[in-house]
Amino acid sequence: MTGGMTDNVILVGFMGAGKSSVGRILATRLGRCFVETDEMITAKEGRPIPEIFAEQGEARFRALEDEAVRLLALKRGDVIATGGGLPCRGGRLEALRAIGTVVWLSGDFATLYERALRGGDRPMLHGRTREQAEALYEARKSFYSRADLAVDTTTLNPDQVVAEVQKALRGWARPPQHWPPHPTLSPSGGEGTLS
Ligand code: S3P
Repeated sequence: MTGGMTDNVILVGFMGAGKSSVGRILATRLGRCFVETDEMITAKEGRPIPEIFAEQGEARFRALEDEAVRLLALKRGDVIATGGGLPCRGGRLEALRAIGTVVWLSGDFATLYERALRGGDRPMLHGRTREQAEALYEARKSFYSRADLAVDTTTLNPDQVVAEVQKALRGWARPPQHWPPHPTLSPSGGEGTLS
């Protein structure tokens, strides 16, 4: 499979990278469906993510993400935006690579942090200082960097990012699959210290 219609395009990256806005535009440009893991979780639980964090904690949210990743294995040819922490635990980035082309929307911390503070309620930033948020960003980079492709969003608006993603996808020849078709997830790992 070389990036054809059955191959999902999966956006990963830190909060503020623009995964949702870029994903929505990209899906329209490519004529594909748009899926967000945070939306899947919100719909299933019938309440917003900050409420899930507040009432049941981060561990419950991460368990819901596990379930969302398993369901993503059923998707074909979609554009999928993931939550910022989703790929940052054992086996998940590999699980995503098994079902599509994973694109890291990267950026420098200051820019992403500014954007993240401006847009919406983000429980992972509650009670964290800027320094602690930066440490989280640094810890996550080693996961994101295992994506197939990366686009630096620092100086770009969403339309420009979409153009860069499309360019990167066109130049991308997907390597032979080494991953199992139904990804197995390890229950723990990743950021570890953050529950
Ligand atoms: C999270 C990021 C959020 C959402 C949840 C946890 C994280 O998504 O999944 O609040 O751990 O970074 P965005 O990256 O879209 O903000």
